[in-house]
Amino acid sequence: MRPLNSGTCGPLQGKTDLPGDKSISHRALMIGAAAVGETTISNLLEGEDVLHTAAALRALGAEIARDEPGTTGNLWHVHGRGVGGLAEPARVLDLGNSGTGARLIIGLLATHPFVSCLTGDASLTARPMGRVAEPLERMGARIVARSECRLPLAVVGTSDPVPIEYRLPVASAQVKSAILLAALNTPGRSTVIEPVGTRDHTELMLSHFGADLAVAELEDGARAITLTGQPEIEGRTVRVPGDLSSAAFPAVAALVIPGSEIILAGVGVNPLRAGLIETLGEMGADITISNRREEAGEPVADIMLRTSALRGVEVPAERAPRMIDEYPILAVAAAFAKGTTTMRGLAELRIKEGDRLGATARGLAASGVAVEKGEDALVVHGTGGAPEGGAAIETGYDHRIAMAFLVLGMAAKKPVRIDDGTVIDTSFPGFVELMNRLGGSIVAEGEAP
Ligand code: S3P
Repeated sequence: MRPLNSGTCGPLQGKTDLPGDKSISHRALMIGAAAVGETTISNLLEGEDVLHTAAALRALGAEIARDEPGTTGNLWHVHGRGVGGLAEPARVLDLGNSGTGARLIIGLLATHPFVSCLTGDASLTARPMGRVAEPLERMGARIVARSECRLPLAVVGTSDPVPIEYRLPVASAQVKSAILLAALNTPGRSTVIEPVGTRDHTELMLSHFGADLAVAELEDGARAITLTGQPEIEGRTVRVPGDLSSAAFPAVAALVIPGSEIILAGVGVNPLRAGLIETLGEMGADITISNRREEAGEPVADIMLRTSALRGVEVPAERAPRMIDEYPILAVAAAFAKGTTTMRGLAELRIKEGDRLGATARGLAASGVAVEKGEDALVVHGTGGAPEGGAAIETGYDHRIAMAFLVLGMAAKKPVRIDDGTVIDTSFPGFVELMNRLGGSIVAEGEAP
């Protein structure tokens, strides 16, 4: 445990890069491991979640190495085993805190004919895995798990996979991706239908590696993603864009701290991830997006933010899949806004690294902000200025709760304390240093600022 305190600071100023996108980093490693030959990945996120995925893939026979420590660019090399070429692991695969790592690797393993055992930390072993087990069992795998299909579990991969057509019952990119990764080593064409669009990094990465993947828009507005299995995919070069979900924290800090102006450079702006930018725009945020480009099939841009007088808005439920990880920090922005912000369609938030809906509502209430929490909705009555702050936040293994409330502390009347800053390393190593470089004052308890 490493308690951190975040107190009122001066304006944020400057330009910064962000650590690599977590979702894309997982996929680059996994698809690199399933390709033939070398994949070179730059700006890979070196957060705990992704490092757990790298370790699991090594245990499955992929060669994965980083350029010498101390070299810049976070350059990683993956020597893949080819589609269907992973080897039975001799030990339990530990995915730490990572739902994405666990669910996507379960998918990959479902169509490898051997047995693997997976586990995770206290948060991950409480998260539902039935959502991936169900379609993967239809493809021929067996998932042997304790009650309610939680980790630890065993994947008994099939030697005779069958392609499926599967309509997602929940809007989840992890479930979609688990099926697509299982479909990689399945002969024939597998189709996932998603009624609501979720992040499409797996589709873009598979296409970047040369897989035969087609996306069709159906009459009811759903998307059908069809992958032709057992392609010959070859190693590629991948540059991982900065993580928009990480950028969200300095972005909101700059909007609410008076006199700020920052530029977040090289951030991924995939439209299926960009719901927060849209919402902040509706709240009156001064955001300029420039220098749009494409890297490894992903849209990337620079984002400039200036302090803005925010106002409360209604955030529609349909937008939730495009900003699911950003609700804690959006709720912090809403606490500074004038008027009420209503967020709906948040049921999935309850089963993230923890119950994020509950943790966000509790933290705001403890910071003097009036909130109402429903089963799948959150209403924040903005202060139209600086909230009281002064809260002691229990992070409960949740990196985004930790960062959201440190941001609140930066512009509240009284400092905010979080009980454990080490959880931030799961997605945003260097968060404290980056925020302090821009002008923040986040300090470890008992250490001089
Ligand atoms: C992710 C998908 C989302 C998101 C998670 C990353 C991914 O989860 O919350 O942080 O990389 O596919 P769901 O698929 O459960 O919505």
